[in-house]
Amino acid sequence: MSVNTQVLSSSRLARRVLSSSFVKAATTPHGIDHYLEMIDPLWSQTEIRAEVTDVTRKTSDSVTLTLRPNGNWNGFRAGQFVRLSVEIDGVRRTRCYSPADSEFRRDGRIELTIKVDPNGLVSRHLREHARPGTVVQLSQAQGEFVLPLPHPRRILLISGGSGITPVMSMLRTLCDKAYNGKITFLHYAFTEEDVIYNDELNALKEKYESLRIVRAYTDQPLGGDLSGFFSREHLVKAEPHFAEAEAYVCGPVPLMDSVRALFAEEGLEDQLHLEQFAAPVRTVSSDDAEGEISFSASGTSVANSGRTLLEQAEDAGLTPEYGCRMGICFSCVRRKDTGLTRNVMTGDLCSEGDTNVKICVSVPVGDVSIDL
Ligand SMILES: Cc1cc2nc3c(=O)[nH]c(=O)nc-3n(C[C@H](O)[C@H](O)[C@H](O)COP(=O)(O)OP(=O)(O)OC[C@H]3O[C@@H](n4cnc5c(N)ncnc54)[C@H](O)[C@@H]3O)c2cc1C
Ligand code: FES
Repeated sequence: MSVNTQVLSSSRLARRVLSSSFVKAATTPHGIDHYLEMIDPLWSQTEIRAEVTDVTRKTSDSVTLTLRPNGNWNGFRAGQFVRLSVEIDGVRRTRCYSPADSEFRRDGRIELTIKVDPNGLVSRHLREHARPGTVVQLSQAQGEFVLPLPHPRRILLISGGSGITPVMSMLRTLCDKAYNGKITFLHYAFTEEDVIYNDELNALKEKYESLRIVRAYTDQPLGGDLSGFFSREHLVKAEPHFAEAEAYVCGPVPLMDSVRALFAEEGLEDQLHLEQFAAPVRTVSSDDAEGEISFSASGTSVANSGRTLLEQAEDAGLTPEYGCRMGICFSCVRRKDTGLTRNVMTGDLCSEGDTNVKICVSVPVGDVSIDL
């Protein structure tokens, strides 16, 4: 039995023993996890905790963490993401990250590559403070950005910058399972220096005949296969048969918008699958905003500015938990006590009281009371 398996089995055994009602009663009011983590910070009855086992910096503005999750982790499908939580200055912060590994990685670990936002909280914290031994919390993997089964015969992967992670996971997975269809991987970076998995891409290209790697540099005129931003010309050069491919795209909003527009022009929307890391910028008119928001848990009230409940809570100095800020990860769900809200992504109105809403995409319409 490997050391890793032994650790997981003992953790499972501990969970079974500690779920007995006797132990539950004996550990009230702190809960079992409070005592478990004193023995081993990875132990928990229900939470997925993961230990950082390796930290590397593949480019000047990214950090790659290898994580060893505890036995509560159920694994992932290539392209999915996890919610990672860390405590920063006493506040739990959650962000979404897409494992970049193959689904078939044998040691059960996962690799997250995080691009550091110079103004960002969690990405900067992880780059500066994550060390082997650091323990973070994870969610189970989630998301629909995955390859269908059986796989299409022709696959086009397009990524930009840190958007490489979910498509790298797809590429590594396809290579591991000796997929014998055609893969084209078109990747955009500022310069050659900024290509996060450059060496590995070169190695994979040598090994798999049916894989075509095309690198496009937006800020380096020479040295790449293409230069400048995504265009029809780029797409045709990279994959002349793109109309026969299923395309998986992840990258900055302008890249995603250009690809979406081109596929729409071609009538190929159904073959396009997109994963967005950041929400498009929304301009909110506060002209029609009426009423008052009551943050019931903190006893604060503010006049409705027309922005989302999350933004208005932050404007009021509160620090609610969030992950994606675009309605996909459920990190920000809070109970709405009363009032009418509109989902800015779907336009749907919700008048129900005592119900859960995603505050990152909910705008108050009149008076709203929310458990924050
Ligand atoms: C499904 C999914 C998968 C993802 N996978 C990856 C991945 O594999 N790798 C990766 O690097 N990233 C990934 N991301 C992005 C990642 O989740 C974070 O958004 C990113 O790391 C930035 O987080 P941060 O805490 O550093 O920045 P934040 O603190 O969230 O700030 C981000 C930006 O918003 C600005 N900002 C913050 N708060 C406010 C405010 N109140 N008002 C106005 N502006 C504000 C900041 O100045 C900063 O520029 C993914 C996102 C999603 C949704
Ligand atoms: S922050 Fe992800 S759903 Fe709201």
